[in-house]
Amino acid sequence: MEHRYLYIETFGCQMNVHDSEQMAVLLKDIGYQQTNDSAKADLILINTCSIREKAEQKAFSELGRLMKLKEKNSDLIVGFAGCLAQHLGRKVYSRVKGVDLVFGTHNIHRLPEMIKAVQKDRKKITQIGFSSRIHSLGVFAPPPQGSVSSFVSIMQGCDNYCAYCVVPYLRGPEMSRTPEDIITEIKKLAVYGIKEVTLLGQNVNSYGKNLQHKCDFVALIKMINEIEDIERIRFTTSHPKDLSDELIECFARVSKLCEHIHLPVQSGSSRILKLMNRGYSASEYFQKIDRLRKACPKISITSDMIVGFPGETEKDYQETIDMMEKIRFDSVFSFKYSERRGTAAGELPGRVPEAEKTQRLKALQALQDRHTQEKNTALEGSVQEVLVEGRSRNSEQDLMGRARSWRIVNFKGDAGLIGRKVSVEISRGYLHSLRGKMIKN
Ligand code: 5AD
Ligand code: SF4
Repeated sequence: MEHRYLYIETFGCQMNVHDSEQMAVLLKDIGYQQTNDSAKADLILINTCSIREKAEQKAFSELGRLMKLKEKNSDLIVGFAGCLAQHLGRKVYSRVKGVDLVFGTHNIHRLPEMIKAVQKDRKKITQIGFSSRIHSLGVFAPPPQGSVSSFVSIMQGCDNYCAYCVVPYLRGPEMSRTPEDIITEIKKLAVYGIKEVTLLGQNVNSYGKNLQHKCDFVALIKMINEIEDIERIRFTTSHPKDLSDELIECFARVSKLCEHIHLPVQSGSSRILKLMNRGYSASEYFQKIDRLRKACPKISITSDMIVGFPGETEKDYQETIDMMEKIRFDSVFSFKYSERRGTAAGELPGRVPEAEKTQRLKALQALQDRHTQEKNTALEGSVQEVLVEGRSRNSEQDLMGRARSWRIVNFKGDAGLIGRKVSVEISRGYLHSLRGKMIKN
């Protein structure tokens, strides 16, 4: 087989990272080997994200940069994939000259066919149709050598239509994979040395809704807990409205499930939550947090926040800050509201000026940094179970792993420990990581 090089650049969420891995596996079958050097590539794919405007801008500026390579190599094929491709379709060709193919989130499985067609007669290919079956999730992507932790897509799409969000339009309706498919994939990953899986979906709590043979998320987690060689289970993302008491109980009862939940709240104001179409009030969210902490006192809770949603007043924003003070999240991803074409929020009155959004975001992040630092400092002297993932980025002698709470832990140790669970006594808590010393087991 002729040997060719593939360069993929991925923007956005873990779904996209996972999709890119699948693209690489499919293309390997038709002779493309992945490279980190774009100058060497015969095929360049840009897997885009559309969730906020910034992600869109980044994708286009990167596309512009990579297109220069076509001046030197006219045989180079350039493809535009993912959410933004889904949204723009053929418009991409007029915005950036020289793009060869545009394909959406439901067409990944057709990639080899599309590439072959471009190779044959250099015609532009555009595939952004939705399919009613999960094709693209069926491809097994072997994890990179030496990996310890892996993502596993359990569903795609979303039915929630939060007022600010493009995902339901660009990734289609929610569809779950069968438990059999998921278990088979995880068992295969275990053979490759994977010890930890993170189950991936826009709203994993509603897993199984559309399955012919009913299986809910709790049942799925319990099945995965039985897989020998898999030592840890995580999941993301949870929607507060669908977080059941049964799932909360799992944090106390299912031994391999790590004590961490990412539970995006988006705002602390019930009025804004209603406008956002989130399906819960601030007090209902507080109740879920209480239940989680009752069932599992040491659970780590992280969240997402949006500031400057249309109509957000100083009072609404203050309610978000008050909520953060009360809950004291372990960590928060926070964003300025970014208007997305076609979403309901785009029609709402009361735009918040950009400078105001910036100021709100800055103050919110300063508060959260204080909480994160305080929580990490409080862990000094504690002993954490760490699953060793690899060498630390900062030092050759250090290893890096994660505590069950999802915190990064760095410590001195031998590479032979990669893939093992060790006990580490924490000596220092920083803002983004912990440092410690391994205890002889
Ligand atoms: N503007 C700002 N933030 C957004 N998010 C999703 N859509 C938007 C938007 N239009 C954030 C939410 C979500 C996270 C993945 O991205 O907080 O939980
Ligand atoms: Fe977007 Fe809401 Fe679906 Fe999350 S739950 S992907 S925020 S619509």
